[in-house]
Amino acid sequence: MAKSPLVEEPGKPDESPPPPLSRNLITYAGWGVTIVAAVMTLVLVASDILFHREQPYNAMVTYLIMPGVVGAGVGLIFLGIAVEWVRRHRSAPHYYPPLPTVDLNKDWMRRRILLGAGMLTVLFGTSAVGIYQTYHYTESTEFCGLVCHQVMEPEYTSYQHSPHARVLCTECHIGTGAEWYVRSKVDGLRQVYAMLTNTYTLPIEVPVHNLRPARDTCEQCHWPGHFSGEMVRQIWHFSPDQANTPMRYSMLMKVGGGKPRIGEGQGEGIHWHISPDVTVRYWPTDWSRMEIPWVEVTVADEEPQIFRATGYEDLNPPEDEIRVMDCIDCHNRPAHMFKSPRQLVDASLAEGRLSTSLPYIRRYAVEILEAPYESTGEALEAIGRELRERYAARMEGPQGRAMVERNIGWLRDLYQENFFPEHNVDWRVYPDHIGHFEFPGCNRCHAGDHYELETGITISHDCNLCHEIIEQVVGEATRQPVSFDSEEFRHPRGMEDLWRGNNCTDCHAP
Ligand code: HEC
Ligand code: HEC
Ligand code: HEC
Ligand code: HEC
Ligand code: HEC
Ligand code: HEC
Repeated sequence: MAKSPLVEEPGKPDESPPPPLSRNLITYAGWGVTIVAAVMTLVLVASDILFHREQPYNAMVTYLIMPGVVGAGVGLIFLGIAVEWVRRHRSAPHYYPPLPTVDLNKDWMRRRILLGAGMLTVLFGTSAVGIYQTYHYTESTEFCGLVCHQVMEPEYTSYQHSPHARVLCTECHIGTGAEWYVRSKVDGLRQVYAMLTNTYTLPIEVPVHNLRPARDTCEQCHWPGHFSGEMVRQIWHFSPDQANTPMRYSMLMKVGGGKPRIGEGQGEGIHWHISPDVTVRYWPTDWSRMEIPWVEVTVADEEPQIFRATGYEDLNPPEDEIRVMDCIDCHNRPAHMFKSPRQLVDASLAEGRLSTSLPYIRRYAVEILEAPYESTGEALEAIGRELRERYAARMEGPQGRAMVERNIGWLRDLYQENFFPEHNVDWRVYPDHIGHFEFPGCNRCHAGDHYELETGITISHDCNLCHEIIEQVVGEATRQPVSFDSEEFRHPRGMEDLWRGNNCTDCHAP
């Protein structure tokens, strides 16, 4: 930069600058580390944006480790300055190295300020992007599921086969807002510590400690006042006989929802518990919430109704242990479903993945999946060995062999998606609260033994309260559409056949 005579005092030469405090080895090293790490981070971020590969460990280096190194570099710069100050102070007792004075009349000072400001801008610019990306990364599914791979593998695997496979872990486990973000990271640090010191227990204890209320998570996507009406569910079972005889039944699930007791039919049904005007509170005897001897219902501003289980007539539970019922009290496995061998095999036979033409396949497959294994490897090996042994005769022809191998492959997939012996996790560990077949579920309250002291009214156990069985068929081929007394459309207003030969839109289009 050329000297400007206007700002210089005439006749007085420019002072030579005192050696700055930053002129020391530590600070130089700091600059080196910062610049190299910042450039590398920029390159990594650019390549992540340009090529976008789903590689969790790359993302961890880019968004956690490299920014950490940049931070450490900046730390070194300041550390060097501090050490240099102390050194100069020690070398001359009572000498306090002056802090820099800003004098914009000095050329060298202007240059230094410009340079410093430029560097700071670049640094802040990159770190703003970096902090944002780092925040994003710590919210990603890979971060949750894979960095803690060891511990959460069963949850990550089951999640990928769930209806919520495209929902971020954090959308259910953390929700929005800074408070829960910070809480989760603090909690995360505790978990990392437990992992490093090997003080965690498997399986992971549920219900999850400090899980955020469904209001702030599930209900960000699902609206509790939504009226679902009735849904048909078709359930398959197969017999452990030679023919794997199928049976299926179709049930009308009365999901309902909406506002309670207003209008005809609305506000009834299964989702009544979470209607905006209904509050169901309950007290479980223990942490796992499997036994619920006390239930309280408040509808709009009516008096609360209290139901107690037989044998708990005198119970008045402590207020701080009472839980308000929400989605998770029924849908506790929306993302991590570990299914039972029976459920898995029946569903696969219904879908045609396992071959019903293999005699006794239902029985063998369930037996093999139920057997205890020390490791996944052992189980996969056993699945192959057992099926090949049992269908040895078929293994002789190429077609039979291909079919047995296909069944082995599918059974192995089922095993790997639902059983985690290394983590002590399978369907027995995490009860599913929907239904009442393999676990008590609804019957924790609806078993018919919860009643109101004064009136004797019980919480209903009526088989048609929640569903109606509309079809039961034994022995028919698989994959039939639901068929119950279906009838032809009768056009309203007494014009029953009006629609024949026409499209509805011919007359009803706006
Ligand atoms: C649709 C919402 C949802 C999503 C998405 C989700 N979870 Fe969960 N998660 C739950 C619920 C609900 C529970 C069980 C809570 C309870 O019983 O208290 C749970 C439980 C867990 C548990 C405790 C052990 C267990 O199996 O119950 C872990 C660990 C876990 N989730 C990790 C993850 C990870 C990792 C991801 C992302 C890969 C994820 N979750 C995605 C809702 C979700
Ligand atoms: C980020 C949005 C989002 C969040 C958060 C979310 N869900 Fe969902 N959920 C969906 C979507 C989308 C579907 C439909 C998926 C499909 O049909 O493939 C769905 C489907 C479902 C279903 C029907 C599953 C089925 O078998 O068809 C249930 C039950 C459900 N969610 C419960 C929950 C519960 C309980 C929570 C909270 C723990 C939750 N959801 C959180 C978006 C979300
Ligand atoms: C009392 C238990 C219970 C509670 C509480 C509950 N559900 Fe359900 N929900 C059910 C049952 C049972 C079904 C029928 C599904 C089935 O048979 O698999 C269902 C069905 C659903 C479906 C699929 C039906 C549809 O319309 O697509 C969704 C989505 C759903 N629930 C979301 C939620 C959400 C979100 C909450 C919390 C606001 C919630 N549920 C609270 C028991 C419950
Ligand atoms: C914490 C206890 C509890 C659990 C668990 C529970 N319920 Fe309920 N449920 C109640 C209470 C209390 C009522 C109200 C009883 C009454 O009014 O007589 C009720 C009422 C109902 C009703 C009738 C609603 C109406 O008025 O139309 C249905 C349907 C229902 N429950 C289905 C289910 C299903 C399905 C499950 C399991 C997925 C379930 N409940 C789990 C406590 C529970
Ligand atoms: C409080 C509500 C409720 C009551 C009362 C109730 N059920 Fe259910 N039932 C359910 C739910 C929820 C499911 C689970 C549907 C699913 O798998 O999504 C279910 C499932 C079933 C199944 C299918 C099980 C399977 O997977 O094969 C049968 C059969 C059944 N119920 C019969 C009955 C009978 C019989 C009664 C009367 C003693 C009864 N239910 C009372 C809610 C109820
Ligand atoms: C040839 C003309 C025509 C065809 C085709 C037709 N409709 Fe209509 N629909 C009518 C007329 C006319 C009415 C009586 C309208 C009124 O009274 O305001 C009616 C009334 C109805 C109504 C009573 C409710 C309303 O909006 O008034 C329903 C529901 C309906 N039609 C359904 C259907 C369906 C579904 C189809 C196709 C399968 C169909 N219609 C085909 C002419 C037709």
